Amino acid sequence: MEVVDFAKEILLGSNLKSKLFDCEKIEFNQACLPDFSLEYPERDKKIKLSDKQMKFPKGHFHIEEKKAQALNSFANHELLAVEMMAMALIIYPHETEEQRRFKQGIFKALKDEQKHFNLYSKRMNDIGYEFGDFPLNDFFWKQMPKLKTPEQFCAVMSLTFEAANLDFAHFYEKVFRQLGDEKTANILKVVYEDEISHVQLGARYMDRWKQDKDLWTYYNESLPWPLTPARAKGKLFLEEARRKAKLDEEFIQKVKGYKDEFKVTNRRDWK
Ligand SMILES: [Fe+2]
Ligand SMILES: [Fe+2]
Repeated sequence: MEVVDFAKEILLGSNLKSKLFDCEKIEFNQACLPDFSLEYPERDKKIKLSDKQMKFPKGHFHIEEKKAQALNSFANHELLAVEMMAMALIIYPHETEEQRRFKQGIFKALKDEQKHFNLYSKRMNDIGYEFGDFPLNDFFWKQMPKLKTPEQFCAVMSLTFEAANLDFAHFYEKVFRQLGDEKTANILKVVYEDEISHVQLGARYMDRWKQDKDLWTYYNESLPWPLTPARAKGKLFLEEARRKAKLDEEFIQKVKGYKDEFKVTNRRDWK
């Protein structure tokens, strides 16, 4: 199937069946569409994005409603990753062999995000809720128009959002495991492990594209305002996960030590 058609099915289909659309292989016979843009991906009413700040529960995850809110938020990020990766497949070039290989990597990651979404949304069903029962924050999507190049995409998606997700997924795996909710904990473990490979995908290409710059400099130059490296980590910084993702040591330490005024990034919740 043509890569652009595959991605359009996901973005322009309004229900979850379209969002989880699968195809075995993508092809690159037709040109990419660099000017393709969408204010929002198509979505049925129940799953529409909103600018409402969903409060991520501070705890009390033994209460089913709080657990459902957490799962709704996790699933929201997965679905947004699916849609943003679909945009990447449409707008970035695939003329060279390297560009096509990069898109194959994104395609594979997109399928993982669909799997993650499914796991979280089924878990919501298990406990009597449905994805979209709580507001679905659009913050990630709002970054998409700023990501004009694959390096900006990797800086934001892989080295910032997905890198932070390593810390969050690991943290909440422990939280749910302690509560005795093995099912939710196991989902977070799957997500954590897959995300390592997604961060690695970004790291590999950023390394290739940075030429004589160091990764930290190149990363910062590629991060559009108002995002900062403060968004690339959770409360507990997992150095080991980042080493597994093949980020270089200097980069890991720079992210770890990074502090800013936390204007944009001061969050109690994971949005
Ligand atoms: Fe994911
Ligand atoms: Fe991911």
